[in-house]
Amino acid sequence: MRGIIIYHSKYGAAKEYAQMLAAKTGFSLCALAGIKAAELAAYDRVVLCSGVYVGKIAGLKFLKRHADALRKKRTAIFAVGLSPANESTLETLKKNDQSGTLAQFPLFYGQGAWKGADLKAGDKLLCGMLHGMLAKKDPSQYEEPWMRTFMECYGRSCDFTDEAYLAPLLAWLERP
Ligand SMILES: Cc1cc2nc3c(=O)[nH]c(=O)nc-3n(C[C@H](O)[C@H](O)[C@H](O)COP(=O)(O)O)c2cc1C
Repeated sequence: MRGIIIYHSKYGAAKEYAQMLAAKTGFSLCALAGIKAAELAAYDRVVLCSGVYVGKIAGLKFLKRHADALRKKRTAIFAVGLSPANESTLETLKKNDQSGTLAQFPLFYGQGAWKGADLKAGDKLLCGMLHGMLAKKDPSQYEEPWMRTFMECYGRSCDFTDEAYLAPLLAWLERP
């Protein structure tokens, strides 16, 4: 079995999961920005390991564009966000996916990290505004599951990455 892990990571957590997965499986590892569609032909297992930003999993466009070829392989998505790892988070991600891509591929999830000091300028502005808005609300009124963790982590660094989150995906990849 030959596999490739394609990752998109702005702040490092999705890349860390991709590296852990590569070490455990022996699969190749490649950043989404560097992958050429023709290279996929060499693999029978493909995993997109990507961060979640503003409700969406980065890189789904790539899967959508190559869905016909990827559906013939064992292809899965491992999403990395601040939301807790539970059904509600998976349902929210599926609901937010207007492209229909998540209906075509299995979705796995691991909790990521928050590195407030490293935020890029656009994200810093956006997150600052979001923090201001959420600070005025009771936590029971937050619209999405990740917002509670976001408010707890804002202004400091939090790291929830844990290789245990990879176990369900590893089991799925090993199925014949
Ligand atoms: C601008 C921005 C938006 C985010 N939106 C979400 C979100 O909608 N849901 C979520 O669970 N986490 C969200 N996060 C948290 C990231 O998913 C988390 O930091 C994750 O580790 C990102 O992966 P990366 O470290 O590989 O970039 C957001 C983070 C940033 C900076």
